[in-house]
Amino acid sequence: MAESSQKSILLLHNGRFGQSRKIASVVTGELLEAGIPAEAVELTNATRIDPAAHAGIGFVISVRYGHFARAAYRLIAAHQAWIASVPSLLITVSLTARKPEKRDPATHPYTRKFLRKTGWTPTRVAVVAGAVQYPRYNIFDKTCIRLIMLLTGGETDGTSEIDYTDWNQVRMAAQGYTRSVRARSGNLS
Ligand SMILES: Cc1cc2nc3c(=O)[nH]c(=O)nc-3n(C[C@H](O)[C@H](O)[C@H](O)COP(=O)(O)O)c2cc1C
Repeated sequence: MAESSQKSILLLHNGRFGQSRKIASVVTGELLEAGIPAEAVELTNATRIDPAAHAGIGFVISVRYGHFARAAYRLIAAHQAWIASVPSLLITVSLTARKPEKRDPATHPYTRKFLRKTGWTPTRVAVVAGAVQYPRYNIFDKTCIRLIMLLTGGETDGTSEIDYTDWNQVRMAAQGYTRSVRARSGNLS
């Protein structure tokens, strides 16, 4: 695969209600627009990476009750040396990030913890706000999210769906990553 075609950037996304997927597809769109082959693939427990096929990697992962998907930890541990050798991107998606002042990767608790536990230093990191989609949650999740929102001064109307993602921030992060890929694009040009 890698010999007959250009290596691509692999964007792995993990979430439950589609926001991480949408963010990954915007990033992929920016890369493709810049002429860089890229593909967005859902991250599951069965996901395997073929490093020979990719010139870079990104993870777009959403927080669920304080945690990210185990598969992200597994893949980063399994490919640590390779990931450190290519341009890499981390986008974390959470509701705490709906306040702009909470989007600093250096202070965002979930992102900090993830980076500390994986030992990964991504080339680019962005902390992005997700969406609240109460009508799609089961009663347990709806109750928990409403409580979290109540405690943090957010929307508690259980019928509302609000997209807090700053899409301009997502595009800026994608463009920054595109520049990083270009800067190390021996295989891509
Ligand atoms: C069940 C559930 C648990 C969540 N837990 C957290 C959390 O602990 N902290 C947080 O900031 N956001 C939390 N969120 C917000 C999600 O990260 C946000 O809704 C995001 O858009 C989900 O992305 P997805 O559609 O890709 O799953 C939670 C959302 C759901 C539905």
